[in-house]
Amino acid sequence: MKDKLLALKEEALGQLQGVTDPGTLNDLRVKYLGKKGALTEILRGMGALSAEERPVIGQVGNEVRGAIEELITGKQEEFQRRETEERLRAEKVDVTLPGRPMTQGAVHPLSRVIQDIEDIFIGMGYQVAEGPEVETDYFNFEALNLPKNHPARDMQDSFYLTEDLLMRTQTSPVQARTMLAKKGETPVRIICPGRVFRRDDDDATHSFQFHQIEGLVIGEGIRMSDLKGTLLQFVQEMFGEHTQIRLRPSFFPFTEPSAEVDVSCVKCGGSGCRVCKHTGWLEILGCGMVHPKVLEMGGYDSQTLSGFAFGMGVERIAMLKYGVDDIRHFYNNDLTFLKQFARI
Ligand code: DAH
Repeated sequence: MKDKLLALKEEALGQLQGVTDPGTLNDLRVKYLGKKGALTEILRGMGALSAEERPVIGQVGNEVRGAIEELITGKQEEFQRRETEERLRAEKVDVTLPGRPMTQGAVHPLSRVIQDIEDIFIGMGYQVAEGPEVETDYFNFEALNLPKNHPARDMQDSFYLTEDLLMRTQTSPVQARTMLAKKGETPVRIICPGRVFRRDDDDATHSFQFHQIEGLVIGEGIRMSDLKGTLLQFVQEMFGEHTQIRLRPSFFPFTEPSAEVDVSCVKCGGSGCRVCKHTGWLEILGCGMVHPKVLEMGGYDSQTLSGFAFGMGVERIAMLKYGVDDIRHFYNNDLTFLKQFARI
């Protein structure tokens, strides 16, 4: 029986030596040490041994089991080590590689210009107001002293949704809406950025849809000089401290007197170049003293109160500020163009 045990040991160790994978190792463990394995099989015959032989054989049996178990444990550890090493090798990170750049979004240039203009006016104590893009004929025209059939409506031919509803052609209706909302309260100091719509040709400087910023101030003793000072402050913050303005008489139904405002050319500073068509000046906005009729329709007493208003095209300001020569760049979603405006 001892010989059988030793022979089993030899066989088992011999086979285990050559094992290279955990599956075979487990099969051999079951084969030799399992409940129905070879070792148990041999030891089952111990019942037939004499009382002297039994402990001797028992000891040999234990030694054989111990030797086989030891080899199996050694192999298991070896496999585990190998697996860990392989995993570490596979997961190795080369920390010297350059990182992958994160693609970051950027504020659209028009939003950026709107934000800049808002900031300037907020700094002067203005509030930002909003109004609907679908507007009534009343607010878009009539409340601004443009009665039905007024010829000045032609300049702002628009998209009508019904007889009475249209896509607003200007942000000026927010003037009337603000006055009614404030119910005669003063001072009024608002700007209103927004999208406007006009039946217009699509070319380098026109689009059927663009953005405006409206301004309205009402209070006691508001004069044309306040308007001029405010606009000068605005353009100098927007285009640089040496920027000058000039006011040219103009006509708008909702202001009297009305003016168009030019800034000294942002490119040449006023000496004359291609951008300003050699005049030294660039037109940027319309403005004037709020027409008494508009004040009255808005619920403000035109005898004791006065105000000024202005309206400017955001695209035009953005084109001048950044030297963009075609309005369509703003709407084409060309990332190469848009990325240039990312704030770093
Ligand atoms: N709403 C005018 C336009 O779209 C611009 C404008 C001119 C607005 C004079 C004003 C203003 O508030 O006083 O052409």
